[in-house]
Amino acid sequence: MEERIIPKHIAIIMDGNGRWAKKRGLPRTAGHKQGAENIRKIAIACNDLGVKALTCYAFSTENWKRPESEVDYLCKLPRLFFNSYLAELKKNNIRVTFLGEIERFPKETQKVITTVVSETKNNTGLNLCFAINYGGRREILLAAKQYAKDVMNGENTLDIDEEEFGQYMMTKDMPEIDLMIRTSGEVRISNFLLWQLAYSELIFSPVAWPDFSKEYLLEAIDEFTHRNRRFGGL
Ligand code: FPP
Repeated sequence: MEERIIPKHIAIIMDGNGRWAKKRGLPRTAGHKQGAENIRKIAIACNDLGVKALTCYAFSTENWKRPESEVDYLCKLPRLFFNSYLAELKKNNIRVTFLGEIERFPKETQKVITTVVSETKNNTGLNLCFAINYGGRREILLAAKQYAKDVMNGENTLDIDEEEFGQYMMTKDMPEIDLMIRTSGEVRISNFLLWQLAYSELIFSPVAWPDFSKEYLLEAIDEFTHRNRRFGGL
């Protein structure tokens, strides 16, 4: 049996919460609740496997277009999630971080986020990162604007390479993404981490996010192990 290669950084598009709920005659919010519970399980599994970072797409810049009741629930989810699981995440030495423009969320959600980030900042295990109010094109636009400002102010030059431009991205302190998993059958990137996914292995699973168990995660890591990663070389 080939030895598993553990990806340093896994990104997940957690799709299918709504369909999972609908199939069971439940409101869509019940799917998001179950989806959040699954983040806890998969984060702990990743931490146990030695994965360094797990970035979960929890709220896209497009999600504001959903019905108000669903948006309200998604805005409340971080508080509900961390009320239930922060102690356990801390016990597992997990560090929590966020990507995206958090300013658009209600003050109370922002407060929870600040507290959680600060209470886990010294943990040395998995970096569990939530992308919220995040969009890949917007991230690149914001990076380009900041870079342009820095050039105009004389704080940077036109002579930079991709790695240096990468320092303007929200993921600047994170390892490269080795593996991106999207659940629930859709075969799209949907504006997630466009810059960062350039060389990542992509796996699309038919399983809805609330049902995506540790076994499916291990299957994805096995598939990742088998792929020959050549970065365009031979
Ligand atoms: C996509 O499923 C999922 C979301 C838009 C939300 C995912 C958020 C969580 C699982 C919880 C986040 C938790 C924290 C702590 C921030 P969908 O609703 O698009 O599913 P569908 O395609 O079946 O309708």
